[in-house]
Amino acid sequence: MSEAKREQWSSRLVFILAATGSAVGLGNIWKFPYITGENGGGAFVLIYLCCIAAIGIPIMMAEIMLGRRGRHDPVTTMQNLAKESGHSRSWGLLGWMGVIAGFLILSYYSVIAGWAMAYVPKMALGAFNALDAKAVDNIFNTLVGNPWLLIVWHSLFLFLTMIVVARGVHGGLEKAVTYLMPMLFVLLLILLVYAMDSGYFLQGVSYLFNPDFSKITTEGVLTAMGHAFFTLSLGMGAIMVYGSYLPAHTSIAQASIVVAFMDTLVALLAGMIIFPVVFANGLEAGAGPGLIFKTLPLAFSHMNYGTFFGTLFFILIVFAAWTSSISLIEPAITWAMNNFNISRMKASIVAGVLVWFTGLLTVFSFNLASDFTISSTISTHYGEFVILKDATAFDLLDYLTANIMLPLGGLMIAIYAGWLMKQEYSRQELNISHFWYTIWTVLVRYIAPAMVIVVFLNAMGIVAFVRNVIG
Ligand code: PFF
Repeated sequence: MSEAKREQWSSRLVFILAATGSAVGLGNIWKFPYITGENGGGAFVLIYLCCIAAIGIPIMMAEIMLGRRGRHDPVTTMQNLAKESGHSRSWGLLGWMGVIAGFLILSYYSVIAGWAMAYVPKMALGAFNALDAKAVDNIFNTLVGNPWLLIVWHSLFLFLTMIVVARGVHGGLEKAVTYLMPMLFVLLLILLVYAMDSGYFLQGVSYLFNPDFSKITTEGVLTAMGHAFFTLSLGMGAIMVYGSYLPAHTSIAQASIVVAFMDTLVALLAGMIIFPVVFANGLEAGAGPGLIFKTLPLAFSHMNYGTFFGTLFFILIVFAAWTSSISLIEPAITWAMNNFNISRMKASIVAGVLVWFTGLLTVFSFNLASDFTISSTISTHYGEFVILKDATAFDLLDYLTANIMLPLGGLMIAIYAGWLMKQEYSRQELNISHFWYTIWTVLVRYIAPAMVIVVFLNAMGIVAFVRNVIG
């Protein structure tokens, strides 16, 4: 392998920080609260937590392990590993799907991160001071209603992402995450204190943790599972590439547990901050993608030093998104460099331009093309199963990547690592006690794949269909 002597993280801690930087992002602070709100709260959160524990952690271990053993871009890694264990090179397709998923996710991720960027000067200039919920709503709607503004912020964020990627992950990224991740935690804790003081804290917490299963739909279960992959950056080769820079002898199991724990903590803290504010101001928990852009400014505008903390907070959201966006495009960059033998710089420019254009689909979903929607239902003899309802291009991209491509990628990773890779190799890479190795094997062989498959089939209405036919 010409690349065998490629770069490595300088320490285990740096790897954990970088993987946490990839995991903690818009998924935790922006997406988790709003999809929880759309899916009725507690029951959704519980399903999400089960997915993190039973699917997320074992698949993360599998993905890091494949990355470290392959030490290449995801496509070449999968081809080489398959060869090593005597399987078809078509496993490279798994890497391919990851490259495409990362590319598509970045295209909308950058637009949303652009919203957060737009909020930094707004906050700093006190645009939200003393406004009520309706007025804050208006500011958000005016922003997303203006395609030109969105394009400017999308371009800026993507530019920042591609600069770091073009320079290589090490110099900038390692340092950035080392300082920023702790700061993000501190600010979350400060906001938590504010939320506790809002008078609606318990109501918010009970919304998050009190499961009411009557509010859960099969689509909600699919969303919870998809989100477990999304939030942990799994199923598309990002963590595989990060794993490929991991020094031998670093404990993959420990690292995976720490990353999953931190990621979950940030999401839950975000929820515990946002929902009390939602209830205190009579806002709508199911407000959709705009949720945090309406609740957080409102919270800050009523806080002492709110302008300062609010500005800082949106800066940190941008940083959290930044450390994730880099990992979204890294698989595509390493693949392009290897495959076409081009420089990192060239690969970054081409990828940046392509992602920018794709991002326009999301930009226009919120304004010019907001009426351009599709709905899809499978109708069977036993009823209609809604797959998509009035979905814009953004909804479609989000659904396709988070709910389909990532779980499918994760499923293939689990199958490969659990069933096809020689046990001798996985034992050697994971290097855990016989007891834990057995648990991991059971999870990755049976539990995780079974859950992914059942959720998929269920979402397509097939389980209901079969149940009806049999019973
Ligand atoms: N985990 C990131 C978040 O929660 O915002 C998003 C993400 C990054 C998904 C990298 C997938 C990925 F490969």
